[in-house]
Amino acid sequence: MEFDVTHALPFLPENWLSSRLEGLTNARSLLETGRGLGGSFTGWVRFPETYDRKELERLIQTARIIREQSQVLVVIGIGGSYLGARAVLELLTSPNYNLLCRDRPQIFFTGNTLSSDALSELLEYVEDRSFSVLVISKSGTTLEPSVAFLLFRQLLEKKYGRVKARDRIFAITDRHDGALRALADQEGYATFSIPPSIGGRYSVLTAAGLLPLAAAKLDPEELLSGAADAMVRLRTPGQDNPAWQYAAARNALYEGGKTIELLACYEPAFRCFGEWWKQLFGESEGKEGRGLFPASVEFTTDLHSLGQYIQEGERDIFETVVRFAIPAASCPLDPKEDDQLDFLRGKDLRHVNEQARKGTVLAHVAGGVPNLLLTVRERSAYWVGQMLYFFEYACGLSGYLLGLNPFNQPGVEAYKKNMFALLGKPGYEGHLSTPQPPSL
Ligand code: PA5
Repeated sequence: MEFDVTHALPFLPENWLSSRLEGLTNARSLLETGRGLGGSFTGWVRFPETYDRKELERLIQTARIIREQSQVLVVIGIGGSYLGARAVLELLTSPNYNLLCRDRPQIFFTGNTLSSDALSELLEYVEDRSFSVLVISKSGTTLEPSVAFLLFRQLLEKKYGRVKARDRIFAITDRHDGALRALADQEGYATFSIPPSIGGRYSVLTAAGLLPLAAAKLDPEELLSGAADAMVRLRTPGQDNPAWQYAAARNALYEGGKTIELLACYEPAFRCFGEWWKQLFGESEGKEGRGLFPASVEFTTDLHSLGQYIQEGERDIFETVVRFAIPAASCPLDPKEDDQLDFLRGKDLRHVNEQARKGTVLAHVAGGVPNLLLTVRERSAYWVGQMLYFFEYACGLSGYLLGLNPFNQPGVEAYKKNMFALLGKPGYEGHLSTPQPPSL
């Protein structure tokens, strides 16, 4: 992985990195020692070398069972309990995975919405197919996955009977606590746990991410091995450290008035990775009235929708582009004379996409949008493992640079309290936020 700040330099003060070395050294030490804010949630820092290898073998074996018994795997979870798995699945296969999977189960992610339309549609789809359910909730109490699990468990029990349904339910949750743990123990479901020291949005390399991916025949060991190599590199302090450079550059741009970070990629398979990244940075940094607003775009698609705004709208944006050095598929172009695409003759579509990226950088920088570039070697499990760790580590550094706790998310509770009060959940009487809108 290479991090390149060249196209942001015109917007950065000369000392953008040197003036932050002390802060980064301190942030690094807080991540290493777990003595910073939220320090009890830094288990992910060394996870790629400390994970339980026996548990990983059991996970791979469980994935095999899921594959053998299911045409469809329904993965239930929200936020950090699904975004990582979905992001990596799509990035390493395709956003069209479910159309292409052939010898692997289709995988649908649900439990991330309260939409009755969305849930009913999937319930109907799996009714006539053999399916298994993987429910993921660290707390075991989140409403969206709880409701989805209720509905899919009922369907499984109706279809297979209560006893046989148990063999089709897999749960990933806290080792000891929560309603899901209690139910799983009572019913005897196969379970895996998310370590207490790893919060949801940092959990993609735990069973929460790895079991769905292994069910799709992706290699968890390769992901972990990429992350482990990134860990060795990124925990080494110094100005050459790409995570230090990224954290320092985005921090300096933020201080210079660039309050929105757009994560961009020229591969449609990256779209969901952008969703994972938004949660990682949004929940880690957006608090106490501070933090960059993380947004994501897919280029060149969004150059024809948001492109106008990026080029000429409010000048409070910078871009972080992820580029894969070796695109997977070659696509040579051979236009005929009357196609009016002569200038593309003999070129490969990969080359065209790369020129679009280069042209966009020049245009956006000229328009006042700084551009950071992360080059990742290729879309393989090993390199995606490196990239996951890169963003997690840079996020931890960034949160501490801002003087925030990068591992809590107190703001997420506000809507829940109101929703539970409106739903009449015991204990939430009188918990509506004030002032109340008059028409509720
Ligand atoms: O990062 C986090 O901790 C959250 O986004 C959680 O992942 C999300 O709220 C889901 O929580 P749980 O896994 O407890 O259902």
